[in-house]
Amino acid sequence: MKRWNVKYPNRFNLGSEEDYLKWRDEKLAAYPRNVGELVVELGDMTALRAAERTRILETVERANMCVFTAGSAELEMASLLALGRQLGVTRTDKSARHSQSDELTDSGILNRAIPFSTRHCNWHTDATYYGSDQTIEALFLLCKRPALEGGSNKVLDHEVLYIHLRDTDRGALEVLMNRNCFNYRNPTTGEVDPHRGGKVFWTNAGGHLCHRFSFRKTDMAWSDESDVAAARKVLESVIADEPAHVIEGRLESGMGLVSNNVLHTRERLVDSDDAAKKRLLFRARFYDRVSPE
Ligand SMILES: [Fe+2]
Repeated sequence: MKRWNVKYPNRFNLGSEEDYLKWRDEKLAAYPRNVGELVVELGDMTALRAAERTRILETVERANMCVFTAGSAELEMASLLALGRQLGVTRTDKSARHSQSDELTDSGILNRAIPFSTRHCNWHTDATYYGSDQTIEALFLLCKRPALEGGSNKVLDHEVLYIHLRDTDRGALEVLMNRNCFNYRNPTTGEVDPHRGGKVFWTNAGGHLCHRFSFRKTDMAWSDESDVAAARKVLESVIADEPAHVIEGRLESGMGLVSNNVLHTRERLVDSDDAAKKRLLFRARFYDRVSPE
């Protein structure tokens, strides 16, 4: 394990250069260069061996994510939740949401929201619509059936995004870390909720970097103050330009993603007309994060 959280506790403190510079160089040198370096093969995702669990935690420490193979486990929600329990994440947001909203398939639920369609999803983290005191820190996926064509994901660790911003526009990062940049807007009523939203980057009680962002305009009410607007522009252009560290891959049947809610896209897909053969991924989101400590 790298133990960066113990070794460089001030790496996300904009007032401290020493920890940041040392951590940055180690982080970029260790960052996976392709999807193959993210893969951890498991014998049974519901019954991890100690060495498998360590491999997952090591990979998540390097990139805030890993891709896994389910092994002999059933491809169902229960397996995803069992994997979470073994990695110390258990607190899901399921009770607060539509009962089928963690089955990603072309079901047309929630007014044909993009995850439940075949359309392209632009860069986002999941669940930008909670308040600062209750955010989703981990996002897990498990693929039962891939699309006939397409439906791959691009992923980017938000710690790498932080490094890009800190090295190119520190002022913008300062705004994104300290100001309440956006609030949730109800897409139906247009009402803005001042209690849901907040900062774009912040550190949690354990010293880990959290991030939330979406290009989606319907429910993101950004502050129109000039410094926030300028910082948003910088952030959006860094993400849209897709740093070299973006990794793309497609989850095939029996593959999944463990992540600390990293930035991701989903590419457009072509699905089967047969409902029993449509692309189907299970999703679990947790208020906890995957961390070696
Ligand atoms: Fe998502």
